[in-house]
Amino acid sequence: MQWRKNAEYDRGLVVREPRCEMAVSWYAVVLLAATVLGASIALSMVPYSVPPSDTTLKSSRIIRTLKRVSEKQALENSTCGRVWLTVHSPEIRQNAGRRLLDALELNWDFNGCSNVPRQIGLFESRPSSWANALEIHQVNSADGFVVTEVSLGEATLPGAWLTGPGQKGPQCLWPWIAAGDNEIQAHNCLKIQPTWMEDHANQINRLRIGELALAGTHNAGAWRFNTEISTVARDSFVLCQDRSIWAQLVHGIRYFDFRIAYYEFYTNEDDRYWLNHNLIRVRPLLPLLREIRTFLDSTKEVIFLDAHHFPVGFYQQDGTPNRAVHNGLLDLVRRELGPHMADARVFGTGAGTRGPTLQSLIDAEKRLVFSYVDNAIVADNNWLWPVLPHLWANTNSPVELFQYLDQAITVSPQPHARSPMHSAMAQTTPTVLDILFLRGSLRDNADAVNRNVTARLASRWRQHANIISSDFFLGNDVVDVSIALTVERAGRL
Ligand SMILES: *[C@@H]1O[C@H](CO)[C@@H](O)[C@H](O)[C@H]1NC(C)=O
Ligand SMILES: *[C@@H]1O[C@H](CO)[C@@H](O)[C@H](O)[C@H]1NC(C)=O
Repeated sequence: MQWRKNAEYDRGLVVREPRCEMAVSWYAVVLLAATVLGASIALSMVPYSVPPSDTTLKSSRIIRTLKRVSEKQALENSTCGRVWLTVHSPEIRQNAGRRLLDALELNWDFNGCSNVPRQIGLFESRPSSWANALEIHQVNSADGFVVTEVSLGEATLPGAWLTGPGQKGPQCLWPWIAAGDNEIQAHNCLKIQPTWMEDHANQINRLRIGELALAGTHNAGAWRFNTEISTVARDSFVLCQDRSIWAQLVHGIRYFDFRIAYYEFYTNEDDRYWLNHNLIRVRPLLPLLREIRTFLDSTKEVIFLDAHHFPVGFYQQDGTPNRAVHNGLLDLVRRELGPHMADARVFGTGAGTRGPTLQSLIDAEKRLVFSYVDNAIVADNNWLWPVLPHLWANTNSPVELFQYLDQAITVSPQPHARSPMHSAMAQTTPTVLDILFLRGSLRDNADAVNRNVTARLASRWRQHANIISSDFFLGNDVVDVSIALTVERAGRL
């Protein structure tokens, strides 16, 4: 039987052993709260809460819970403040025409701490001593970042997640970060969070989907060309991501903004649906749906898929929907993902509400919420979730982007919103002139905002943010921060 199922089953038995159950949840809550706040709590507390002679099912659950908590604690720890790693999205030109791709960035925030550590370093494994650092930098401000000259290197996924489902729980890619004076006071690693919803299920499953804080990707499919004419991996104005859908899921992304196009010239109906960036065909849809299917089949995670724009082939000249094309897409999605699909007629909770709880979706084994941007199609297919509002600043200025989002997130959700969720589009949009004159690139644009997105989510957006969709998500820390916020919100229920 699954561990989570046992946990649910146990909850019914609380009466029999109330003290044990309560003590355990208390310690787990304190420890997790401590992890969330970046504070530290002596882990020596933990063993005393486990009765040594208790070998029942319950005690094995306790040990597993605590192990998971302490594993998490061990990956990230700090006496005060936080350190974290990100990946620099633009390439860096070095001497002699060399190019540095995916440079690691060291980030810190010690605001509010009585002591700001003097140095920060990059490590190849768990930091134990400064002597093992690959690079050390002086810290002269309460918050900031440095771009290192070390590349993340070949993208790989730990814990056997590279090719299929792997080990549960957060796991580290190779880079670690630490800060401190003589002693190391804070450390963290670049993580994957493949099962974060399940890892925190006991705390967060009572939240409604509109109450979550979730990391999403904008133009999720635009990560590498896969067409007859192009296989280039990097393009200035088209590719918004550099990780596959599978890798995005493994990293902890749970919301995908898909832009779908239809090309009649393919003989095979399945081959006609593509993910686009505006008018540019980037990848065929079907293999991406299958990656999502594999992930849903092998985890307990909930995924939000948003068909948000249909740039080619879905509408007639006069703007009316081409029903055959829409229906073909709906058939394809149902055929590939149908068993996981949460029917909006069953799980929807009405306008102006925050939607179903995670628990109800998980209990019913319906862990895919599919929203669709066309009202007429939703009206005819009311199993679809209604248009998910995008808070989109439509500006190429980072200052305007944040002014807009600060306001838009604060007033969301709208009181009578049909969708329980909303997505903040945390990226700037290049103008036609930017593209014509090759001013910047989507990578530069992402770099100009991603660090501020991390900081905003932890501060001004903390209460109201739901989905935060970004470009080149490894350039921000939205996955870890949003998990912490979700746990924090659950703690207030
Ligand atoms: C976290 O840091 C505190 C204080 O620096 C230390 O006592 C504790 O053992 C650390 N925990 C882990 C799991 O490394
Ligand atoms: C981003 O954050 C930095 C550092 O706090 C700040 O100086 C800058 O003005 C911010 N940019 C925007 C557009 O808010």
